[in-house]
Order: sequence, then structure tokens, then C-alpha cells
Amino acid sequence: MELTKEEEKMLNGEEGYAVRKSMEILTALGDIYGADRLIRVGSVQVAGVSYHNLGDAGLEFLNELAKDGRVKVLTTLNPAGMDLENWRQLGISEEFAAKQNLVIDAFDRMGILISCTCTPYLIGNLPRYGEHVAWSESSAVTFANSVIGARTNREGGPSALAAAFVGKTPRYGLHLDEKRIPNIHVRVNTSLTKLSDWGALGYVIGKKAENKIPFITGIREAELDELKSFCASVVTYGAQPLFYIQGITPGTDNLSVPSDNATVEEHDLKEAYDNINDQVTDIELVCVGCPHCSIKEIAQIAKLMEGKRVAENTEFWVATSRTAKQIADKRGYSEIIERAGGKFACDTCMAVAPLKGRFKSLATTSAKGCFYSRQNKMLTKMGSLEECLEAAVTGKWN
Ligand code: F3S
Repeated sequence: MELTKEEEKMLNGEEGYAVRKSMEILTALGDIYGADRLIRVGSVQVAGVSYHNLGDAGLEFLNELAKDGRVKVLTTLNPAGMDLENWRQLGISEEFAAKQNLVIDAFDRMGILISCTCTPYLIGNLPRYGEHVAWSESSAVTFANSVIGARTNREGGPSALAAAFVGKTPRYGLHLDEKRIPNIHVRVNTSLTKLSDWGALGYVIGKKAENKIPFITGIREAELDELKSFCASVVTYGAQPLFYIQGITPGTDNLSVPSDNATVEEHDLKEAYDNINDQVTDIELVCVGCPHCSIKEIAQIAKLMEGKRVAENTEFWVATSRTAKQIADKRGYSEIIERAGGKFACDTCMAVAPLKGRFKSLATTSAKGCFYSRQNKMLTKMGSLEECLEAAVTGKWN
């Protein structure tokens, strides 16, 4: 990969340890994937924030970088392992909280915005169409590429951090026009009536498309919250963090419909639900907000929970960004949800919080949430927001 004089200097350590280390990571990646050069990025989203996943080795790595590493572009953070303010209320231990706070402190010293959300595009990190960015967090990467039309590879935590310190990323993969061409046409022949149907659709298309980029037809409309749910699911159960939906996502007018094709029928969605849902009736945790709830979703939850009460042996969590929660506070939504016994899980989520062994069963609107909760040994149920809230109130899945 060709480097400019300025980049050579960074690689030689003239800008300090963190930049040198970052250049080593970026040039190694560029060489592996055949990049010709580095390109500037408009923003970075860093994943790998939960101490649960990082451990002491990860914390040490971050502390080393934080000694002289300062980000050069707008950089936001993925969810952490706990609510940074109300962690006690979510049952997080003192020991875990102390370590998680050290992780956050390291990111803070680097100049990163302590946003702790997987929906950075809802809180101010919103790239423009065609802009090159370096994002990690699969659902956010898919949203950036597909719904916004920005360009990013699916970065890992270290490569995203490296891009933040250098302000650049290697030019390969989804930064290139030729790697963004769809190569399977997926015709959706069934209607989508609730939020979880988009998770089920992501499951089906992810599996049918395998490693191909889908060009999806047959969908007439989609809300932003439905698209963010689809983004999370399609990349969890499939491989590509990019899709096109004709007439809905940007850039579809200039594309030819791929000859390779597949269809999604009603029975495919039903099979997806059958595969995602386990045999379980008693629900110990209901968690909505994967990806993190928008303010619109929180408003819906408040409306549905008004005057209700969460069942005694069930926890009900609303996972969202702290920014969305602050708006919810002002609008009175938080009060309604908390009066009903619900808890906000800001800055965190069911996949990155240390939940293993705490809950045996989960109900959620999210197909991705089910995937990761199964890894935490929970039995899972996916359904509409109404079905999930019913489970929160009764403690049962009917
Ligand atoms: Fe976000 Fe966590 Fe889901 S990072 S997409 S809420 S698994």
C-alpha cells in the first residue's frame, strides 16, 4: 500500500505511540486486503467497550493507547457492559462497575464521545450519502452502508480505533464502487405487519443471501425503526453489511437487478419465528431496544405501559442511548415506564451486559437480541412490542 510522506512519519512514530500502533494495524489490514492507499474518514464508531468482553487484557491495551492517543475525527462509542449511572439498579456488581468505569475513562482520555449506543446515527454521528467512515458494530455498519448510503467496512474494535487516531482507513472492500454491487435479487412476497417481522425477514434474507449482497424488491414502505431492526438481523444471520431495498434505500435507481434470485414467502417468515423462538412460557427478562430504542419507540412503550404494572418475577428493560433517555425524561415517557416498574438500560444492552446465569428466559422484539441471548444460555421469544409488553406485565408468553 502506498503511503504519503505524512503517513510514513506516523508509521515511524513521529506522532507518538498510539498513532504508530494504529498505522501498523491499518497498513497490515491494507496489505492483507489489497488496498492501494489510505482514505480520510468522516467519523468512527468504536465497538469493544464492555469490560465483559474486553477483560483486563483489553483494558490494559486501551490504557496504553490512551497515554498519547487522541482521536482526529468525530468518534462515538458502542454500548458498554452497564448503565453508566444506574448500574446498581440493573444488578451490576461493584467490581464489574469499577472495571467498566476504567474502560470508559480510557476512551474519554482519547477524546471519544462517551455515547455508548449502537445507534450513533440517532444521536449526532450521521454521515452523509457516499461519505467514507470507519464504523464497527454490525447493525450500525449495515445501517450506515444501506440506509444512509455511507461507505464503511465492518471494522473490529482495534481497527476502528486505529482509524480514529489516524483519521483514515485503508481503501478496500465496501469503500469501492465495484464491491458494492448487489448480486442476488430477493423478492419479498409476504407482508410485514409488526416490528419483529423485520427481524424475521433479516433472518430469512441473511440465510438465503449467504455471502451475497441482496437487492430486495416487493417492500412498499419501511419506517426507520423497522430498517434498523432489519439491519441488525440481516447481518447477524447473514454475512454482508450492505443491502438495497428498491424504492426505499438510496442508490437503487442506477442498479441492475441481479440475475441470481430468491424469494421470501409467508412460510419462510413463519419458519424464522419457529427457529428463533424456544419452548418457554415463564419470562424472566423482557428487553426491548436492540438496536437501541429511538425516542419514537420509547413514546410507544410509554403509551402501552401507562397504568400497567410489570410482573413481580419479571424484569422489563428499555435499552436506549442516554440522549434518547434525556428526551424521554423531558417528555414524561420515562416516568410512565418507571412507574409501571420498567427500568431503563441506557449505555448498554442485553448482549454486552454480564447477564449469563442471571435470567433463564428472554422476550424481545429483536432477532439479533435472541441470537446473542442464546449465547448467554437464555431461552428466547421474539414478538411484537405489544406481545413483549404483555409478557412484561403477566410474566408469561402466551
Ligand atoms: Fe445494539 Fe446490543 Fe442489539 S449493541 S444491536 S442493542 S445486541
